[in-house]
Amino acid sequence: MGGVELKDISYSYPDGTVALRNVSWSIGGGQKVAILGPNGAGKSTLLKILAGLVFPDSGSVIVDGEELSKKNADVLRTKMGVLFQDPDDQIFMPRVWDDVAFGPINLGLPPERVRELVETSLEVVHMQGHADRVPHHMSYGEKKRVAIAGILAMEPDILLLDEPTSNLDPKGRRELIEILGGLDKTMIVATHDVNAATLLADRGFVLNERKLAEGTLRDVFSQSTLLEKANLDVPDITKLFMSLRENGVTVDKLPLSIEEALKELSDILGNKKKRRQGPV
Ligand SMILES: Nc1ncnc2c1ncn2[C@@H]1O[C@H](COP(=O)(O)OP(=O)(O)O)[C@@H](O)[C@H]1O
Ligand SMILES: [Mg+2]
Repeated sequence: MGGVELKDISYSYPDGTVALRNVSWSIGGGQKVAILGPNGAGKSTLLKILAGLVFPDSGSVIVDGEELSKKNADVLRTKMGVLFQDPDDQIFMPRVWDDVAFGPINLGLPPERVRELVETSLEVVHMQGHADRVPHHMSYGEKKRVAIAGILAMEPDILLLDEPTSNLDPKGRRELIEILGGLDKTMIVATHDVNAATLLADRGFVLNERKLAEGTLRDVFSQSTLLEKANLDVPDITKLFMSLRENGVTVDKLPLSIEEALKELSDILGNKKKRRQGPV
């Protein structure tokens, strides 16, 4: 499965705004990583560079062992699917079916295969039965799912997702997280939604123009100085247990999810009970 590597990437926009300074990063095939950082940190820029949509001022991008250049960008781009933050920037055909079919048709696949890919992709995002609808008339969450179907129809190994949970209502957010969680792909998610990060990724890459840290999300969310420096929030559930810890409760492992929190809570209550019963 596809891996990507960034070597010493720097990039400034034409107006002189510096977006990235000397960023190096290696993402192994199959990893699920969240790029974390405040607004303006360079997350979207980094995704565009990874995807070969923007070329860095210096440094190199290596996709599946091959250095990305203007010459091979078209070929290497087919290994990657990019979900833009706003689905209206992605969907442009007047009918769902045509929009999802656009990529595979462009790849020159035979009609029968195109049909198969469109049907399977719509099914994965729970939009089967919506093939004849007009995207313009659909809800934001539905549009996002159609955009994902369009990406999946091209069968990329690597998914690059820019703020996938932004502007979704709670149901739409849950659905999207469930759909993305079920995909067996290398996944790189730029997000400032730390609660979604823990549901979509297991590793974090903290960015604020420069790379500030990289590691498991538990590592990242355990470093208070780093969080302050990166202006990053901590998942709600983790915050609760940090506060319990500050109030003298022994918390062995800071939970990042409800499941982990339930386990930690049952340990805490179990210990209390044991202590109350005294030594046996
Ligand atoms: N088209 C652009 N022209 C000039 N500056 C830009 C452009 N797009 C983004 N920037 C600037 O580059 C920096 C990084 O932006 P971006 O990658 O969008 O950050 P993030 O996605 O983390 O919010 C910010 O300072 C932003 O204002
Ligand atoms: Mg962004």
